[in-house]
Amino acid sequence: MDALRTTFEQHLAAALPGVEITLERPKSGELGDLAFPCFRAAKQLGKNPMQLSQELAAGIRIDGAALVAAGPYLNLKLAPETRAAAVLGAILQAPGDQPFGSRRANGRKVIVEYSSPNIAKLFTIGHLRSTMIGHALAQLHQFLGWEVTRLNHLGDWGTQFGTLLAAYTRWAQDGNADLEADFDWADPAPEKRRTPLFRLFQLYVRFHAEEENDPAMRDEGRAWFRRLEEGDPEARRLWAWFRKISLKEFQRIYDRLGVAFDTLEQGEAFYEDQLVPTMDLLEQAGLLVEGDKGARIVNLEDVGIATPCLVQKGDGTSIYATRDLAAALYRKQAYAFDRCLYVVGTDQVLHFQQLFAVLNKLDPWFHGRMLHTPFGMVKLPEGKMSTRKGNVIFLEDVLDEARERVAAIIQEKNPDLADREAVAELLGMGAVVFFDAMNDRVKPITFTWDRVIALDGDTGPYVQYAHARILSVLRKAGGDWAAKAQAGAAQGPCLPFPLAPLPADLGGLAAPEAQALLFELAGLPVAITAAAEGCMATPLARQLVTLARTFSGFYTNCPILAPDNTHEVREARLALCVATARALRQGLYLMGIQAPEEM
Ligand code: ARG
Repeated sequence: MDALRTTFEQHLAAALPGVEITLERPKSGELGDLAFPCFRAAKQLGKNPMQLSQELAAGIRIDGAALVAAGPYLNLKLAPETRAAAVLGAILQAPGDQPFGSRRANGRKVIVEYSSPNIAKLFTIGHLRSTMIGHALAQLHQFLGWEVTRLNHLGDWGTQFGTLLAAYTRWAQDGNADLEADFDWADPAPEKRRTPLFRLFQLYVRFHAEEENDPAMRDEGRAWFRRLEEGDPEARRLWAWFRKISLKEFQRIYDRLGVAFDTLEQGEAFYEDQLVPTMDLLEQAGLLVEGDKGARIVNLEDVGIATPCLVQKGDGTSIYATRDLAAALYRKQAYAFDRCLYVVGTDQVLHFQQLFAVLNKLDPWFHGRMLHTPFGMVKLPEGKMSTRKGNVIFLEDVLDEARERVAAIIQEKNPDLADREAVAELLGMGAVVFFDAMNDRVKPITFTWDRVIALDGDTGPYVQYAHARILSVLRKAGGDWAAKAQAGAAQGPCLPFPLAPLPADLGGLAAPEAQALLFELAGLPVAITAAAEGCMATPLARQLVTLARTFSGFYTNCPILAPDNTHEVREARLALCVATARALRQGLYLMGIQAPEEM
């Protein structure tokens, strides 16, 4: 495919000297495999684009392909067998370490910072967004040749710890003295799951509720945070304990989601000893200005940001932004990155504008390397979620509910399925994660169970089903096909068994449905690149749905194992099945979704 593109570009360049050649993908495989929009070239040459595309169609010859003028577009359309050989070759003969659509190491380094929950709060459906968008971005960049560092800027420092310490010390005697009592970490049965972090969280919610009527409590929280910052041993001891409890819970969720970080040790607290040096740097650079009540700020009006960046409160305590500045400076030293992505909600747009602006003033090295990839908040039909008020939806509840709903469907449709529980877990997860990716990253999502868990339509399970159906066809085909499918599926994300040589006769793939499927397979790398560039998995998720749907058309119209198929037809169609399974599995894997072999 790449070779074809190059050939086409060379022909166009020769025919249109001085014109910049950019190719597109036609809307359907019916039209062709590559399209050259003639508008710009026509304008440059003072011609009509329709006429230019006709002239080019008449003037260019490429073996195995037809050049067709379609209005202002010049389409290159491969002969059915050529398309089949090109696409199947690219997918099935790709070396294991260089799967279809991937790129070689490009020597560039990216930090993806994602998830970053606050300690002592529970993981809500809102955190799923940062976690899974970030995970997909990390996977996608790695696939495209970047060296990726996965960081989690845990919220393990800040005034909320003052609140927690105040709440805990106030009410510990109300049965909360040992948050871990009666809890078996090794066996967190569902009904017990919410202890001990839940107990801590309840203290937090209660404190905020009572604080409304008793403003003096606010000072209590502040005083505790001061003690913490000053190194008071009791404050430190409790803080470390809260942190440990939280991390244990988070780790369990990350394991369940299949998400891992290079380290969980570089949270906000990690930068504590770097706050003074950071303030010194700002001072030396002449950026610090006295704000209200002794606070210290950096003015950003000159770069078009009206609100100054607060870096130290009047009482001398550090804030969120100070720790982010220290973190960025640290990351420069530790990772020498080319790009740093912050996967954080749209409610922090201003914060990141300020952060990046201060960094640019401090050190021009940062310019152009820092990127906030915001995502829309998850809303409940009744309004915004608020941890403080306690009206939130916990991620684990969503995952459990999804699993149970799927299990009920399996029970009904396929009661003999082996490993029912495990499959239900993968499908439930697929439903939730895919739902998230199908939503535009930046728009808010309204969460309703029905939409998340819908198992038909543009959903994860629909794509997972196409994959499982193909593996079942391969098992039925028996012999080598069955063995290869099994070995491949056992090996990991992309069924990495090579198929060399390809079936010699690909005539069995001439039908329009087979050709359409080949065309959509060729679209996968395009979708992967678009997902990485746009920093959201949506284009990839859409392409996977299209692939699954196109496969279904192929499956219905081009019988694979029909007894009256010739051997050649059967082999060619099976090869297309394997290629499709591989593409689906690879795509899902990049999104952080596993594809069960049966369902
Ligand atoms: N802990 C923060 C929160 O839950 C998100 C942290 C985002 N990352 C950052 N570098 N500020 O809102």
